[in-house]
Amino acid sequence: MKVIIKENYEELSKEAAEIIKEAIQKKPNLVLGLATGSTPLGCYQELIRLYQKEGLDFSKVIIFNLDEYLGLSADHPQSYNYFMQENLLNHINVKQENFHIPLGIIKNIEKFCQEYEEEIKKAGGIDLQLLGIGSDGHIGFNEPGTPLNSRTHLAKLAESTIKDNSRFFEREEDVPRFAITMGVQTIFEAKKIVLLASGENKADAVAKALEGPITPQITASILQKHPDTIVILDQAAASKLKGKY
Ligand code: GLP
Repeated sequence: MKVIIKENYEELSKEAAEIIKEAIQKKPNLVLGLATGSTPLGCYQELIRLYQKEGLDFSKVIIFNLDEYLGLSADHPQSYNYFMQENLLNHINVKQENFHIPLGIIKNIEKFCQEYEEEIKKAGGIDLQLLGIGSDGHIGFNEPGTPLNSRTHLAKLAESTIKDNSRFFEREEDVPRFAITMGVQTIFEAKKIVLLASGENKADAVAKALEGPITPQITASILQKHPDTIVILDQAAASKLKGKY
């Protein structure tokens, strides 16, 4: 793992966008794994700027998103589909048919999850996966206890995640209790991974993920074994690390 510590959130976001920009310039049909949450927002704003001001071309880029809340339709304002449209896709020249995200309303969950894995495979696998981290150390919605060899599956949200994510909903009761998420192994198979974490409330999770044992209790800890992972932190998120980076 390569760890980069930036002064602040703005610098962290720019660094992440720069890595994505270089990857697209190298491979215009990049298979890009994206994440939701507030952490990647600054990176998405910078990608929009790069498209608008520097002509960064997304026309051949293929996107696979990590996860979606179960029970929310694609046009629900709190769905991750809606989030991606509003915060990135509506502002760049990515083709809608090249955007993949799990559905929130599905009949046959198991079949859907298998098909999502197939689609990733058919696209040639994920070249670059962007990740945030939950305060309990999760990636995607792979909560503590999720097997490290898991693939796309139905996940039950941890109580702490429901609390964390309730800020996006009117009431805590409105937060869906389940989600469809890429599994830990699905994420691990991405050729390159960029994990972002900002703020003091992520410092514990970051320290455990980077310096603790590799364990299903902190699913981000699997990244210690990944051959090409870059972790970009701001000072606050890095504040509980013991090692020198
Ligand atoms: C959700 C998402 C994760 C994300 C996490 C952290 O649980 N499923 O992909 O990393 O939230 O979100 P935030 O960046 O808002 O702290």
